[in-house]
Amino acid sequence: MNVSGQTVLITGASGGLGQAIARRMREAGAIVRITARRTEILDALAGEIGATAIAADLSDRADVARLAEASKDVDILVANAALPGSGALDGFSPDQIDRALEVNLRAPIILSRLLAPEMQARGRGQIVLMSSLLGKTSSPGSSIYCATKFGLRGFGQALRADLRGTGVGVSVIFPGFVSEAGMFHESGTKLPSYIKTITPGACADAVIGAIEHDRGEVDVAPATLRVGVKFSEIAPAIAARVSDRLGARKIADQMSSGQSKKR
Ligand SMILES: NC(=O)c1ccc[n+]([C@@H]2O[C@H](COP(=O)([O-])OP(=O)(O)OC[C@H]3O[C@@H](n4cnc5c(N)ncnc54)[C@H](OP(=O)(O)O)[C@@H]3O)[C@@H](O)[C@H]2O)c1
Repeated sequence: MNVSGQTVLITGASGGLGQAIARRMREAGAIVRITARRTEILDALAGEIGATAIAADLSDRADVARLAEASKDVDILVANAALPGSGALDGFSPDQIDRALEVNLRAPIILSRLLAPEMQARGRGQIVLMSSLLGKTSSPGSSIYCATKFGLRGFGQALRADLRGTGVGVSVIFPGFVSEAGMFHESGTKLPSYIKTITPGACADAVIGAIEHDRGEVDVAPATLRVGVKFSEIAPAIAARVSDRLGARKIADQMSSGQSKKR
């Protein structure tokens, strides 16, 4: 589906990747609707690119339903919002776990459930789910985040199979570490020199490419990370030992302390 002229709803549009996706969508000629909680960022972005802003808290089930009701006409859903969910499990209260599950996993599922039938009725549409390479492999200090991002992968694959032939596609995006903006960048984590990052713009291009070519899964990461992830899917125990030796725990600790306020 060519995004030009299509109406797109982007969640998490006040964040690093969401802003980049919204700007690229607009450049590509889409009619853009953006949502998040921080209205000052949303309104500024909406003014800049001529988008419509809808404030919603995706940890609030009534807000998710309200957002879906206001978005029945969208051709493309980009479910991008998430909480970092980083840190050891015993550092999360049950409420914090529930919030991460609601924002990262339940909201994309419910928005898909409520918007896909409308797309099917029109015979066209695309649902894009923002996962992470941590939706394919794990690292220390990521149990909650991985639960949601692995969950999105399974949900997206199965939903894609269910919707095959209806004109509605489902794409799952798997970014690696993103520099310049976003939750990893803001954590202040320093990566070893052998781990390379990608930009928010590369993620936005991947989203548009996935929609235009109806790609089921797209990794957005340097080749070395992509190969490492493939290896970990074949031999997870060996891969975990190697990544421990390469300093995965130190990276996880930095991310967890840099992101602890976003639980
Ligand atoms: N940055 C990376 O390195 C990286 C790597 C892999 C995957 N990803 C994925 O990419 C996506 C975007 O990440 P990012 O780096 O752009 O993160 P970010 O800058 O922290 O942005 C997160 C977005 O989610 C929204 N959000 C959080 N809680 C919400 C809630 N309760 N209700 C509504 N919106 C909420 C935030 O908006 P408000 O706070 O305004 O509500 C914000 O717009 C996420 O799915 C993330 O898991 C990121």
